[in-house]
Amino acid sequence: MPTPWKSSLSSSPWKRLLPLGLLLPWVACGDSEPTAPDPGPNALPCDVKDVLARRCAQCHASPPTSGAPAPLLSRADLQKGSSLYPGTTWGERSVARMKDSGAPMPPTSEPSLTHEERDLIEHWVQAGMPAGSCGALPSGQVATSCGSGSFWTDSAQTSATMAPGLACRDCHLRLAPDRAYFFMGTVFPSFHEKDACNAPPPADARVEILDSAGRVQLTLTPNAAGNFLSAGLQPAFALPYRARVTAQGRVREMNTLQRSGDCNTCHTEQGNHDAPGRIVWP
Ligand code: HEC
Ligand code: HEC
Ligand code: HEC
Repeated sequence: MPTPWKSSLSSSPWKRLLPLGLLLPWVACGDSEPTAPDPGPNALPCDVKDVLARRCAQCHASPPTSGAPAPLLSRADLQKGSSLYPGTTWGERSVARMKDSGAPMPPTSEPSLTHEERDLIEHWVQAGMPAGSCGALPSGQVATSCGSGSFWTDSAQTSATMAPGLACRDCHLRLAPDRAYFFMGTVFPSFHEKDACNAPPPADARVEILDSAGRVQLTLTPNAAGNFLSAGLQPAFALPYRARVTAQGRVREMNTLQRSGDCNTCHTEQGNHDAPGRIVWP
């Protein structure tokens, strides 16, 4: 299976965080990144497909219009040898024409490409036009969203509102062990919210930690990002525990007894270890 093309234009918050290094160790061993589906030999990476569709396809359609010589819609179209310049592919010619200020593509009648768009196509062609995937989710996975529309993007900002949805304690044990609080997690408005999505909760939302006898041992208040954490590095009562979220007079409860307080290791975008997805306020 060809390596899926890693893009530079992706809107995934991961990509924006990666250069800062902080999240690299987590991403490297993280198990919540979905495995890419087999793209099939002719599939374009999503961002390459997007640029071609928005900037080239109105003329380089199938059949081509406005005097354009060939369709540029699929990976095979770009891998094919040019009928005008034997020995080069349409992909290579595309890069040449995108950079040709005297006769650019798209033509000067159209808005010109941004640097990012040009670099994206050029790097992809230089990389050998690898297959990618677009849109299709691996089987068993559901689409994710971000209800607030706002993400934690500044990975230099390490505070109680950092990294909503990520496995807090797992990372703290490695990078900030003196702050690896035992109970840490995030509450969200719905089950399949994206990593790093800020989730400002209802004002009266609380996370209650109960012991195995059902007594409330800790009450935690989620902050503006939806994150909550205990003060102690170890629980002050005997494990296992149960948990529930209350808000607006309603309750959602976890009946299963747990021993790990790193809630987001199970309450991931898709849900790990049988969890339904995120911890959701009622
Ligand atoms: C408004 C219509 C239009 C759009 C949009 C357009 N093209 Fe073209 N393209 C043409 C026409 C007309 C020709 C033939 C005349 C020429 O070569 O200038 C052409 C020719 C080409 C050729 C073959 C000529 C050569 O020099 O090898 C390539 C490759 C090409 N376009 C790539 C692209 C790419 C890549 C995009 C988008 C980034 C794009 N074009 C957008 C109209 C368009
Ligand atoms: C990928 C690693 C990573 C993840 C994930 C992570 N953190 Fe952190 N966090 C850090 C590091 C590193 C520091 C300490 C920075 C320093 O030394 O000042 C920190 C510091 C903190 C602090 C202390 C701030 C202060 O001023 O002392 C809090 C509170 C905190 N994180 C909460 C969380 C919560 C809640 C989550 C999960 C929703 C989380 N973190 C997820 C790496 C992480
Ligand atoms: C080891 C995995 C795991 C950990 C860690 C975990 N959970 Fe859960 N959680 C589950 C599973 C599985 C379910 C679904 C079954 C159930 O409700 O007991 C669940 C369900 C829930 C529900 C109810 C879901 C619904 O139907 O609305 C809440 C609330 C919840 N968990 C909160 C928490 C909190 C708070 C923490 C951390 C203090 C936490 N969980 C830690 C696995 C986990």
